[in-house]
Amino acid sequence: MNTNLSSSVPSQLETDCLVAVVLDQAENARSENARGEKDKPSPSVECSDAAVREAAQDVIAGGEVTGKTFETTLLHRPAGLKAKRLLLLGGGKAKHFNAAELRKLAGAAVRTLKSKSIRSFAFALPESSVAAADGVRAIVEGAFVGNFEPGYYKSDRKDSDQKIDAVTIVVNKDRQGDMKGLETAMQAGRIVAESQNFTRDLVNEPSNLMTPTILAERAKKMAAEVGLICEVYGADKIKALKMGAFWGVAQGSDEPPALIVLRFDPVGAADKVHLGLVGKGVTFDTGGISIKPADGMEKMKYDMAGAATMIGAMRAIALLKPKVKVTAIICATENMPSGKAQKPGDVQIAMSGKSIEIINTDAEGRLILADGLCYARQLGCTHLVDAATLTGAVVVALGYVNAGVFASDDQMYERFAKANKAAGEKMWRLPLDDEYKENLKSNIADMVNAGSRWGGAIFAAMFLKEFAEDTPWIHLDIAGTAWMEDSKPWIAKGPSGIALRSLVEFVKGWAP
Ligand code: BES
Ligand code: MN
Ligand code: ZN
Repeated sequence: MNTNLSSSVPSQLETDCLVAVVLDQAENARSENARGEKDKPSPSVECSDAAVREAAQDVIAGGEVTGKTFETTLLHRPAGLKAKRLLLLGGGKAKHFNAAELRKLAGAAVRTLKSKSIRSFAFALPESSVAAADGVRAIVEGAFVGNFEPGYYKSDRKDSDQKIDAVTIVVNKDRQGDMKGLETAMQAGRIVAESQNFTRDLVNEPSNLMTPTILAERAKKMAAEVGLICEVYGADKIKALKMGAFWGVAQGSDEPPALIVLRFDPVGAADKVHLGLVGKGVTFDTGGISIKPADGMEKMKYDMAGAATMIGAMRAIALLKPKVKVTAIICATENMPSGKAQKPGDVQIAMSGKSIEIINTDAEGRLILADGLCYARQLGCTHLVDAATLTGAVVVALGYVNAGVFASDDQMYERFAKANKAAGEKMWRLPLDDEYKENLKSNIADMVNAGSRWGGAIFAAMFLKEFAEDTPWIHLDIAGTAWMEDSKPWIAKGPSGIALRSLVEFVKGWAP
């Protein structure tokens, strides 16, 4: 998809469709009074071009357009405009409007227009509430996210099908002071969004076409394209490093595991900071001997979303070049039942030397991450972040809306929360009190890998904390958010690419 900035007067721009945001300026939430009358919405078009406002006048006056979020009104041959169509896109209450809302609106514009076989459009940059550069970025990011379709293996799929080819962002003349800055924002948005879609590509693949070996190849190819160092190791290295927890999972599969390391080490990097990004790359999770029920098991192809997120984040980092040393460590394997598979009751010795009693072979993510975190520390990482589709329990706790965040260090959490807010992704912090540690006790080993149902997401995080040890660490449980259960106006059903934008923003925050 091409992206352009334009300083034209919106009404004078020739385009297949001009998109303008409509905000509701009414102060209060609409409520009914005693006589059953509702407070009137007060919609206004976010475009100071009088001709555009004029073109929207009738549908606004008639009450058809209210500015409600995702309300779409498509006008053909709008009078006074060179555009063939005018799409009025509701953005909700003006006082709640922000970059995150705008990002979704851009995705909704793409999804609305591409379904009508429109290939290109222009989006009028809203003129209030959002800073110009943030707005440009949000529109580009949202547009790319909205353009992604997961139906790869449909035999009638054509690349050109239902895709937007070009988006122009029209900047009002009051906001044209720093067009170069806006150009930079547009390119940055593009890098992040294309990386997010790269992650979604990886997650979308079925497990027969996304084995650990294939995941490693995709990482290598990407690394060569963007100038990252990529090393891929197999079973021999995993055993040589004494990664007994990782190998305990991998031993059950005929598909060889892969330990993927991606390195970004720019000249002039911040002193004494080395970020480690650790990803769970279970390319298929059957549960192992503690096998999962058949119902819904097909979704366990997305159990490598944490890995894909870290690989995609490294792509964005390599292209944006913040002066921060970052290493990604991806533990990729299948979790299979077989004659070679580990069994409940087995004891595995992790790379750190700690022993683990395997209570449930379906609690495999924490095992591979335990060794991934330990390896990151051995490589000298000063701060760790992991991303994993780790527990069904986080879905019980937070549903499909928020990802779970756990942090061992409040300062590091503050940095992450700031990045997360700027990225506009929904996440919620969950606790790691020492009291939960009780549940890790084993009769035979240093700890068990699974406990009771209650607080399952916290248990998993407490387990990982044993391996992050005293290195400041953040754990993202994306089990409920890495896959969209339904399509939304701004995004297709399927892989979401959650956490990538926050991670990239977080990494940028460490640059001197
Ligand atoms: N990959 C699953 C977690 C998961 C669940 C991801 C739903 C995406 C959607 C993980 O490996 C797992 O099986 N966890 C178990 C742990 C339990 C056995 C302690 C779970 O959550 O049920
Ligand atoms: Mn599992
Ligand atoms: Zn899993």
